[in-house]
Amino acid sequence: MAILSGSKDEIINLATKMLCSGEVVAIPTETVYGLGANITIDDSIKNIYKLKSRPQTHPLIIHISDIEQLYEYARQVPKYVEFLAHRFWPGPLTFILPKSDKVSYFVTGGQDTVAIRMPNNSLTLDLIKAVGHPLAAPSANRFGKVSPTRPEHVVEEFNNEVNVIDGGICNIGIESTIIDATSPDCYRILRPGLITQTDLEAELKSNFSKIRLINKLTQKISFPGNYTSHYSPTKALIGFNSFSALKSLIEEYKDVYIIHYSNFFIDQNHSTFKIGTTPSEFAKSIYHALRLGDNSSCQVIAIEFPPNEIKWYAILDRLNKSVTKINK
Ligand code: TXA
Ligand code: MG
Repeated sequence: MAILSGSKDEIINLATKMLCSGEVVAIPTETVYGLGANITIDDSIKNIYKLKSRPQTHPLIIHISDIEQLYEYARQVPKYVEFLAHRFWPGPLTFILPKSDKVSYFVTGGQDTVAIRMPNNSLTLDLIKAVGHPLAAPSANRFGKVSPTRPEHVVEEFNNEVNVIDGGICNIGIESTIIDATSPDCYRILRPGLITQTDLEAELKSNFSKIRLINKLTQKISFPGNYTSHYSPTKALIGFNSFSALKSLIEEYKDVYIIHYSNFFIDQNHSTFKIGTTPSEFAKSIYHALRLGDNSSCQVIAIEFPPNEIKWYAILDRLNKSVTKINK
């Protein structure tokens, strides 16, 4: 048990058998690895919550392989959602929609809405087709912890308790953008991702100029994953946004794991991880860097915050939820 081996066909056959008999299998997606379960087997869904130690009221995203399945698992699909799905799927965009009877309340944590996305990973898309049903999959980490972006992260997280399909390193590296699309004339971003507010507005501008992006819906929607603390390494994580803030940190702690993108001169007593300077490069290695910091012998991890601009919102969202404090 652990990373499944064999040819692509052998792995898909094996994983299909496991998923159809109710086992949980970790699956690669372009964002992060997910803990996959067949949505038609309630015990399998319950097992996801158990493995993750996640509250049962905290709903799961279902992963589909074909746009037509959107209409099977959602009760109403606004035209702008159909348009965005054609534009961005397969890809890192999740819609919250009224659920159809085919989705059990175990998957949605008791809610009448369901989160749906089509992941951009050919192994996982083939697997969903072979299973014949969508796969519910939260990120394959323990509740509140750092999401996995490599197969070995999943193995580390679950001590070989879960079989993993090796899809290599996730291309995007942070979770999908989630939009609340339960209203026919407005939408709201519940979780920012690399598909930004600017991207969505640009797409809708031509054909759907009346669809508004709003910050608050009048109708209340519960977003149980929106805890202020999340994505956290075990060690203290301290944010900084200037060289002077970093220097004072280095004076306070003798052994710091420093994740930075600016070209600072840092003495060799500290371990460093040079992260990319664009949002997509930063996203691709942020969780790996946090895990390396956690596994190092350093006392604390320090991470350089990117600027407060829309294109960085997804990264800032994850960092603000994972840091212990920010050194100004
Ligand atoms: O990129 C991703 O979205 C990854 C990959 C594996 O697809 N999945 C992921 O799942 O990040 P998870 O469970 O770690 O985060 C999904 C978030 C949770 O905060 C959950 O509460 C929220 O989506 N969610 C799911 N269904 C919902 C619903 N019906 N209403 C409101 N929020 C929902
Ligand atoms: Mg998660």
